Amino acid sequence: MRAAISGWGTAVPDQRLTNADLERRVDTSDQWIVERTGIRERRIAREGESTATLAIEAGAAAIKHAGLTPDAIDLLIIATATSEQLIPHTGAFVGDGLGVRCGSFDLNAGCAGFVYELVTGSSLLTAGNLDHVLIIGAETLSRVTDPNDRGTCILFGDGAAAMVLSAAPEDGPGLLAWDLGCDGSAAGLLEIPAGGSRRPTSAETVANGEHYLKMAGPEVFRRAVRIVVESATTTLERAGVSVADVQWFAPHQANVRIIDAAGNRLGIPAERTLVNIDRYGNTSAASIPLVLAEAADAGRLADGDLVLLSGFGAGLTWGSALLRWGRA
Ligand code: ACO
Repeated sequence: MRAAISGWGTAVPDQRLTNADLERRVDTSDQWIVERTGIRERRIAREGESTATLAIEAGAAAIKHAGLTPDAIDLLIIATATSEQLIPHTGAFVGDGLGVRCGSFDLNAGCAGFVYELVTGSSLLTAGNLDHVLIIGAETLSRVTDPNDRGTCILFGDGAAAMVLSAAPEDGPGLLAWDLGCDGSAAGLLEIPAGGSRRPTSAETVANGEHYLKMAGPEVFRRAVRIVVESATTTLERAGVSVADVQWFAPHQANVRIIDAAGNRLGIPAERTLVNIDRYGNTSAASIPLVLAEAADAGRLADGDLVLLSGFGAGLTWGSALLRWGRA
């Protein structure tokens, strides 16, 4: 038995934040942002919207798309770095909103979160003989981004995307190979310093802005390209396929220059690389399922296509997965 995708759904806030809007807030320009990142606009959650509301909308759409009702879901996993609250986990709110009572947990692997939950969900489905596992990548990075830090506020956006994993035959579509990793010695390159056990929230941490995301952008950039190439290559080796066999590359949407550099080194041309960063920016754990769902909805992915997913993020984590496309 193998786990394959049987349905998908997405949810993004309707509120757009354009580069022109950012020009009015911080010392930046549309030209700089487009040239250095490829981003033109991102979606920002309104009051009343949150990681859980976006996840519920995406999850409900995915369940419907799979032709199921919520009671058919055996396990719910939410990949997020921007949880609804510290306690309880985001899955509690999402499960309640979806009307499911199955087990649920959150998984925080930064922007590699979707690949991590794809691997985890697929493995639990096959190990536990489950019928359907719902995996959701959902983020509201706008809630942890310093609106006045031009090094980060131009990059991040909010959104969610969900996939239902269902049992498929061993020779059918689904997850073929994967690679996960984390170099925790680089944790300080991308972090929210306060608000956790090590440095609880206080008037001082808030005054210092330590509840906001801090990132050493250029260093993360340098490592990201190398990590994506190594991890993607390892995954292809494990599957016993060459890069020429891969029809689609679905990378984490962090920066178009990282995507281009990784694609070049891997030998995957731009026309086989899925990109939507121009419209959503970096939505962390939501970015890979969002770009994948969009491509699937546009009819770009054919049954049998090999799709290579690769993400990296806070940790620094990384994760790659090779999927044979096709609905379970
Ligand atoms: N507008 C105008 N100028 C800017 C801006 C801006 N928004 N931001 C920085 N600059 C300036 C800098 O001050 C610097 O000026 P200087 O040369 O006078 O000192 C110059 O532009 C170059 O700055 P760099 O930071 O070196 O620019 P870089 O080309 O590295 O781009 C960026 C910065 C976009 C942040 C890039 O480093 C990047 O994308 N890094 C990776 C981000 C990432 O992938 N994060 C991981 C995932 S996130 C997660 O897991 C939640």
